[in-house]
Amino acid sequence: MGALNTSDNPNVLVGLDTGDDAGVWDLGNGRALISTVDFITPLVNDARMWGQIAAANSLSDVYAMGGKPLFGLNLVGWNNDELPSSMLSEVLAGGLEIAEQAGMAIIGGHTISDPEPKYGMAVTGEVDPDKMLTNAGLKPDQDLILTKPLGVGVITTAIKAGIAGKEIINAAVASMIQLNDIASQVAVSAGATGATDVTGFGLLGHLGKMTLTSNVDAVLDVGNIAFLPSAKLYAEDGVIPGGTRRNLAWVEHQIDAGSYGETDLLLLADAQTSGGLIFGVDKAKTDSACAELNERGIAAVAIGETHAGTGTIRLR
Ligand code: CO
Ligand code: CO
Repeated sequence: MGALNTSDNPNVLVGLDTGDDAGVWDLGNGRALISTVDFITPLVNDARMWGQIAAANSLSDVYAMGGKPLFGLNLVGWNNDELPSSMLSEVLAGGLEIAEQAGMAIIGGHTISDPEPKYGMAVTGEVDPDKMLTNAGLKPDQDLILTKPLGVGVITTAIKAGIAGKEIINAAVASMIQLNDIASQVAVSAGATGATDVTGFGLLGHLGKMTLTSNVDAVLDVGNIAFLPSAKLYAEDGVIPGGTRRNLAWVEHQIDAGSYGETDLLLLADAQTSGGLIFGVDKAKTDSACAELNERGIAAVAIGETHAGTGTIRLR
């Protein structure tokens, strides 16, 4: 998309040029619409769970902008020759459960015939443009807060290989279907201006994009970063998705790894589906923001800090 010429429309507050989580359209009078779309292939065998994951994943970019979702449209690719329509009903029921939890209406959708199933949503949300969170909004000398553990890519690769046990699967699914609504609200009320959700490019990829566009460096306290159960063990055994390796290759020139080795770096670059938010807050707000998130059931931790800079991520 970067190669396309896009017109300058004054209503576009966030468009294609900054690679942000969603587009934002100014309505005037302190109101703006957020628009985003996402769909995924199946990650788990349970149809309803997959629907829940896909819906939470589609909603996440609205929360990553500091907004609230209003309504969504279902997007479905379905293999009618091999899969019963009752299974599709389960997928859509899972999506609806998550939409209801988010207070969002589903008002339409579209289905096509597709050999490999796909499900997601186009979501429209609303944000106060003065309180919007963007990739370019990190400031120097802030703490960085991450709101979910990493390792989804490794775990879903283990699921596809048939080696992940039930408890491990359940922990990963619980993390993926957890909405980023509370994380977003707490980030906004703590005065954050820079945030993104950790998804396909992994923590290092998304943070690398943020540090470049925000003109800061980041220092990560690797020991503070939480991982899903068994993610480290699988990674050490080489259970690493291709996307995770590509993420690391893409961002490696920005990384000062210190004494950390390749497996650590791959875990930090692991491609996530429906990952948590990472946002920056002034240091005086860190403890209260983390305490509120933890109280409300979000496993948020401070994982490092920013300094004025040019996009380097140093691991310590
Ligand atoms: Co995003
Ligand atoms: Co997305």
